[in-house]
Amino acid sequence: MKKFNIALIPGDGIGPDVVNEGVKVLKAIEQLDKNISFSFTSFPWGCEYYLEHGRMMDEDGIETLKQFDAIYLGAVGYPGVPDHISLWDLLLRIRKEFDLYVNLRPITLLHEHLTPLKNKTKKDIDFLVIRENSEGEYAGAGDWLFKEKAEEVVLQTGVFSRKGTERIIRYAYEEARKQKKSLTSISKGNALNYSMVFWDEVFEEIGREFPDVETYSYLVDAASLYFVSNPERFEIVVTSNLFGDILTDIGAAITGGMGLATGANIHPDKKYPSMFEPVHGSAPDIAGQGIANPLAAIWSVSQMMDYFEEEKWGALILETMKEILHDTDKLTPDLQGTASTSELGDYFIQVLKNKYVK
Ligand code: NAI
Ligand code: MG
Repeated sequence: MKKFNIALIPGDGIGPDVVNEGVKVLKAIEQLDKNISFSFTSFPWGCEYYLEHGRMMDEDGIETLKQFDAIYLGAVGYPGVPDHISLWDLLLRIRKEFDLYVNLRPITLLHEHLTPLKNKTKKDIDFLVIRENSEGEYAGAGDWLFKEKAEEVVLQTGVFSRKGTERIIRYAYEEARKQKKSLTSISKGNALNYSMVFWDEVFEEIGREFPDVETYSYLVDAASLYFVSNPERFEIVVTSNLFGDILTDIGAAITGGMGLATGANIHPDKKYPSMFEPVHGSAPDIAGQGIANPLAAIWSVSQMMDYFEEEKWGALILETMKEILHDTDKLTPDLQGTASTSELGDYFIQVLKNKYVK
């Protein structure tokens, strides 16, 4: 019997609604598979907590989280608390403290009708973006000089260490080798004449250890165009923190929107818990209406099961998603359906149970 301890951070806005559906899926798995069990501990951290306590999470929150196998997060951020505080004091803090340097964002079209791109099929849009998740443009390095004076100067420094750059690129090569796929690096060496020239050099250097992996290297502006015009070019993609953040929103747009985009924050050696979360935010515009799409959060559960080396469950969740995406009327309004968050979650579990063969 494998037992996994999961920390839940539902967070703000629609976060609790979608996490609730993901937990239902985990409980269904536990019920169906006698070899797996989960325990859940929920933490009330987020913007409401901040307004009460002046901080986004407990002082010893990081210490507390260390004992878990995984963290399942909804979304953080809400009007009333500046976004840079909510992001830095919770999400980025966890990513940094646990050194979750790999961000895995699948860009996979699960049903043809979901893409706004003409003539693109499931075969054309099926790739994985591996985003550097610990440094780069989001290192938080910089300065704010002469505040509110005429000479005011703001510096935001990108930090690309050899260790940080090598490890993410090596991880991507290994993944490409394992999956027998091509690897594309996305950078911007023509304009960012230190950081991205370095990135390109490391990409080439490490590539010598992987002569069997076919590689491509694109500038981020051209890559943005190709994401839309020729997504079939991509199989495995590796890119920096900022570029990965932006490009994967394009990825979400071509595969069905924010309600379907997921991301895993992992450290491959599993010394600390990895964190699983939908890519979307707290969606204040629809919060409290019970209509948020829970499928992105459920896809995160699929990624979590892969991380737990329970790939058959990861795959079954994806298969179930593909199947229910055919039934438009069972979906939430963002996918032109009329279902509520919990109705879609319940339907998902019904189909999952039917698909499960012992
Ligand atoms: P957002 O992702 O919350 O919303 C963007 C648009 O997508 C909205 O129109 C929203 O209704 C829609 N949307 C998002 N998720 C959806 C879902 N599951 N189902 C249906 N529609 C969905 O991004 P926004 O509005 O820029 O940010 C809102 C707050 O969330 C901010 O405070 C921001 O800092 C925070 N945020 C947090 C993230 C995280 O916790 N990982 C990521 C992105 C933003
Ligand atoms: Mg983003």
